[in-house]
Amino acid sequence: SIETKVDSVLKLMTLEEKIGQMNQYNGFFDVTGPAPKDGQAAQKYEHIRKGYVGSMLNVTGVKDVRALQKIAVEQSRMKIPMIFGSDVIHGYQTISPIPLAESASWDLQAIQNSAKMAAEEASAVGLNWTFAPMVDVMRDARWGRVMEGAGEDPFLGSKIAVARIKGFQGDNFDDAKTILACAKHFAAYGFAESGRDYNTVDVGESTLQNIIFPPFKASVDAGVRTFMNAFNEIDGVPATGSRWLQRDILKGAWKFDGFVVSDWGSINEIRIHGNAKDGKQAAEIAVNAGCDMDMEAYLYIEHLANLVREGKVSEALIDDAARRILRVKFELGLFDDPYKYCDEAREKATVGKKEIHEAALDMAKKSIVLLKNEGNLLPLKKSGQKIALIGALADDKTSPLGNWRNASKDGSAVSVREGMARYTGNSVVYEKGATVSLNTDVFAREVKVNTTDKSGFAQAVAAAKSGDVVVMVLGEVGYQSGEGRSRADIGLPGVQQELLEEVYKVNKNLVLVLQNGRPLTIPWAAEHVPAIVEGWHLGTQSGHAIAQVLYGDYNPSGKLPMSFPRHVGQLPLYYNHKNTGRPTMPSPDEVFWSHHGDVAHTPQYPFGFGLSYTTFGYSNLKLSQSQFSKAGLIQVSVTVTNTGKVSGKEVVQLYLQDLVGSTTRPVRELKGFEMVELAPGQSKTVTFAIDEQTIQFYTANKKWEAEPGAFKVFVGGSSDANLEASFDYVR
Ligand code: IFM
Repeated sequence: SIETKVDSVLKLMTLEEKIGQMNQYNGFFDVTGPAPKDGQAAQKYEHIRKGYVGSMLNVTGVKDVRALQKIAVEQSRMKIPMIFGSDVIHGYQTISPIPLAESASWDLQAIQNSAKMAAEEASAVGLNWTFAPMVDVMRDARWGRVMEGAGEDPFLGSKIAVARIKGFQGDNFDDAKTILACAKHFAAYGFAESGRDYNTVDVGESTLQNIIFPPFKASVDAGVRTFMNAFNEIDGVPATGSRWLQRDILKGAWKFDGFVVSDWGSINEIRIHGNAKDGKQAAEIAVNAGCDMDMEAYLYIEHLANLVREGKVSEALIDDAARRILRVKFELGLFDDPYKYCDEAREKATVGKKEIHEAALDMAKKSIVLLKNEGNLLPLKKSGQKIALIGALADDKTSPLGNWRNASKDGSAVSVREGMARYTGNSVVYEKGATVSLNTDVFAREVKVNTTDKSGFAQAVAAAKSGDVVVMVLGEVGYQSGEGRSRADIGLPGVQQELLEEVYKVNKNLVLVLQNGRPLTIPWAAEHVPAIVEGWHLGTQSGHAIAQVLYGDYNPSGKLPMSFPRHVGQLPLYYNHKNTGRPTMPSPDEVFWSHHGDVAHTPQYPFGFGLSYTTFGYSNLKLSQSQFSKAGLIQVSVTVTNTGKVSGKEVVQLYLQDLVGSTTRPVRELKGFEMVELAPGQSKTVTFAIDEQTIQFYTANKKWEAEPGAFKVFVGGSSDANLEASFDYVR
């Protein structure tokens, strides 16, 4: 068995070699060139030769991976292969939509397939590990990393986490087209105060257990093989040094037997947080807390052996960490063939292959959300309609790649202009209007936004006048969201809002296509612009997908995985909020209730919302019985009818409200969804089962359990669903 094999290797290893397995380095020099002679690169190289490196990150390409693996398995004493990781977040070279966009599809099969394609491409270039999926629940659109997650809901987030893990890891690792997944960031990284990346997190246990943990727990249950801890502190303890999170919850209560990697340098950040006096103490805290692998802090390799000798860290803990890492390497089959992912012919045949592009296009279409379509301005007519296309993002071939674009080349995405050309030839009048970003090479730099240059406005306005319909593509450039890319103002960046208003003055047949990595505040557009399409950062095939939607060859079916606020001051904003003691205005003009005096109480567009070119009616909500007890269940059924003129897909959503709890309960929670496809006039009955597990939550008893009492059921096409019924759960 694998465990016997792991033990047989482990008992031959020195303490330093075991610690070496816990050490991960970033790629560092031209690996196929001469060996580096000095500095950090020389040390890393030397460490691989000694067997002191368990894993590398950001070394990609068969040639490079093979070269480093060769050193590990030919020159080190124990000949243990390394694993090679990278942030394959939404594709390696062929880029699919950012995860937030994919999540808007609510299409688990498509999401799984998208991850599968990413794994196929990544594994062909020597990689066997992705630092994905990010399963952090997030409620604050100011946080730049919302682009990388599945939105604000733990139920949807759990389903998507599982789909992505299955996609990356497949059924087993015999298939060399699969890679290790990594559930990150454990835990609560998505709850950074004011949405500022890396900021302090302060949440209570009820929110942690009921909201933040479920996608992580679902990841463990789905067999994810690695976890990444987090940069943030939580309740005064840096997550990387939290024994409670890593040993008690993850490896204890949830019985996770894979390994935990730190985030980049996060072991050292325990010191910077002010929780350790130096790097040595930080290493001691992290390893005792259950962090198995050190990503780029160099502290395990430097201090762990001494810490063991000094009795501050038990060797049993080192054995446990090394065992976890070796176990995963055996599972991958690397001991049988360290070059399993190093096949030049496969690399050549796989990267950028047709099927991967097709999957990226399929995913991109499914990710688009139609937010508004007054007077059926969309779809556009395929002939006889003169189009003015305006906006800096309309012909941008890089921004749609979004952040975490890995090995994709700048300029490799299809722009909206290119996508539309298929329908319009070159008859579109295109004007940029105004740039968004003043600098282009912004991978490690702040995006500088154009806030002054309006010199292109006049031509844009003239173009708008000449069109029957204006399509404006506005929003964020790819690097305005992602790690370190928090924004305090989440409106249209720079002069774009002004441009939009100028164009609208001369032509009100205006379609706004948004490209962005987070929910934006667009109150003016929501009120004035007749048609709005949420086109996110959709990856390599972006423009084709958007054009197909604009021209009605694809009927949009996406639903928002995150609420769109009216104003940034509403954040954090999420549909599954608590009732508070003062939820409604007691009488006209009364002020003492929970609200903002200067903005409506509601989001601009709620979670779960999205339109179609057809319409859907909901009727006939029925419950199989009015109460159930532990062993039983209730069937909820509803009839959904396509009441419009074209076929379309609808995500039917089920929400529950637990009216009274031992701790307060959200006003409603998503508990089921199903996608139906209906021809005009066609109806379908959708049925959901509610059982004891559906209504469980982490109660005042500090246990997951179902409490007896009354529940409300809501069914519909968004979190505003208002078809309502009720039942009781009895003991
Ligand atoms: O995987 C990422 C993580 O999500 C954020 N910090 C860097 C890591 C490796 O690139």
